[in-house]
Amino acid sequence: MVQVPKEAQEIYTKQRIISLATVDAEGKPNTSYVAFWWFEDDETIVLIDNFMKKTRANLEATGWAALSGYDMDIHRAFQIKGKATIETEGPRVERGKMMAAQFEKERGMKMPAKAAIAVKVTEVYYLQPGPDAGKAVA
Ligand SMILES: Cc1cc2nc3c(=O)[nH]c(=O)nc-3n(C[C@H](O)[C@H](O)[C@H](O)COP(=O)(O)O)c2cc1C
Repeated sequence: MVQVPKEAQEIYTKQRIISLATVDAEGKPNTSYVAFWWFEDDETIVLIDNFMKKTRANLEATGWAALSGYDMDIHRAFQIKGKATIETEGPRVERGKMMAAQFEKERGMKMPAKAAIAVKVTEVYYLQPGPDAGKAVA
């Protein structure tokens, strides 16, 4: 399995709202945003499905996910690609529900935390402009 470098993990964590690209069985792309997510370990990102529609259908159809992150202060950016598995119960979903409860307390908006999407990292690329753009990190 491929490991996400600590630098990339820090950038995604600082950005917090990350972009999620998926693809359907015909190759049609889709992008959305994710605020409820965490690095479970160096090889796994967990996303929480609150409102996913095309995203969820695409993840069920192909399993492919790509997530990008950018730090404008240091001008570094990464893309992570991976294969997703979907869980509708278990400790990851429970953690999503805890995040939802905290969000409701702070922001007054209810989030359903319907499922947890565990993305196993398969590739990591540099995305910032310059000589490393598009190169594989891992
Ligand atoms: C700032 C922001 C954060 C979001 N975070 C999440 C999230 O953590 N989980 C989720 O399911 N949807 C989240 N959404 C909603 C998705 O971007 C999107 O509306 C949803 O997946 C439905 O679009 P789709 O049909 O492309 O899947 C967020 C949207 C925004 C603007």
